[in-house]
Amino acid sequence: MKPMISFCMMAGSLSLAIFCGFATQILANSDLHHKWEMLYLVHQWPVTVCKMNVNDCKDPLMYWTIHGLWPDKAGECNRSWHFDISELKDIMGDMKQYWPDVLHPNGTHFWRHEWEKHGTCAATLEALNTQKKYFGKGLELYKNINLNSYLLKAEIKPGNTSYELAAIKEALTRFYSVTPKLQCLPPEEGQLQTLGQIKFCFTKEFMLRNCTEPKPDSISSSDHGHKYDKIEDLSICEDGLLYYPAYVEV
Ligand SMILES: *[C@@H]1O[C@H](CO)[C@@H](O)[C@H](O)[C@H]1NC(C)=O
Ligand SMILES: *[C@@H]1O[C@H](CO)[C@@H](O)[C@H](O)[C@H]1NC(C)=O
Ligand SMILES: *[C@@H]1O[C@H](CO)[C@@H](O)[C@H](O)[C@H]1NC(C)=O
Ligand SMILES: *[C@@H]1O[C@H](CO)[C@@H](O)[C@H](O)[C@H]1NC(C)=O
Repeated sequence: MKPMISFCMMAGSLSLAIFCGFATQILANSDLHHKWEMLYLVHQWPVTVCKMNVNDCKDPLMYWTIHGLWPDKAGECNRSWHFDISELKDIMGDMKQYWPDVLHPNGTHFWRHEWEKHGTCAATLEALNTQKKYFGKGLELYKNINLNSYLLKAEIKPGNTSYELAAIKEALTRFYSVTPKLQCLPPEEGQLQTLGQIKFCFTKEFMLRNCTEPKPDSISSSDHGHKYDKIEDLSICEDGLLYYPAYVEV
């Protein structure tokens, strides 16, 4: 039994009883908060990350890298479970290559952040309950998806041409049999939106799944999730054209 609850069961006075009612409510909510149903494997396009941080970035990598492996709803689930880089020593080569901090190539702060915010929540699964398992699984899913080589095969290449969002989504859906979520940097005045992230969804058994189940009742297929999907300055790509940039314009 949680100490707060056992303390409350002994509480006699009315004001303590009210306090305890709130406290158990909060405990129940925070337990609920830690429940999640699927994982996002988030790929980021380093050129776009660079474009969002022009002062901190030169010569971005030219392949999609991992941003994170995120439970769909939950964050910072165990603040006392600190990041320990020594647990990653066996996978350090892959971490640096596929899961780098795009802005600070030698930094480890990015991994610490990903572990503390997302990993401590993912760790409710036995398959992800150590730092090595969590980051190792992210690398494994990324390699299996092999997004970089599929995009090249589908002739979707970074450059000075624009793409229809629908065309990219269709190509990805044809290949993976699921539709990932595409996130863009919103357009500046007179420009197009810029592709920034591609998120694939996985079940707790690490099977690819659609990020949203089709809703039988909904007539329109438009994405109502828009305002919930903002991640920092990226949002769900709007229908229409987008840039997939090969370099950071100055
Ligand atoms: C939080 O992490 C610490 C350190 O790994 C662990 O001892 C503790 O059991 C965890 N708490 C929960 C609720 O999982
Ligand atoms: C990053 O680390 C590599 C080798 O680990 C080193 O060669 C390079 O100079 C470092 N870069 C910075 C900016 O510290
Ligand atoms: C990219 O395209 C824009 C608009 O079509 C054009 O103005 C610009 O010169 C092109 N840049 C390069 C490097 O081709
Ligand atoms: C995912 O959605 C697409 C498009 O709606 C559909 O064609 C596909 O069968 C779905 N895949 C799965 C695994 O449910």
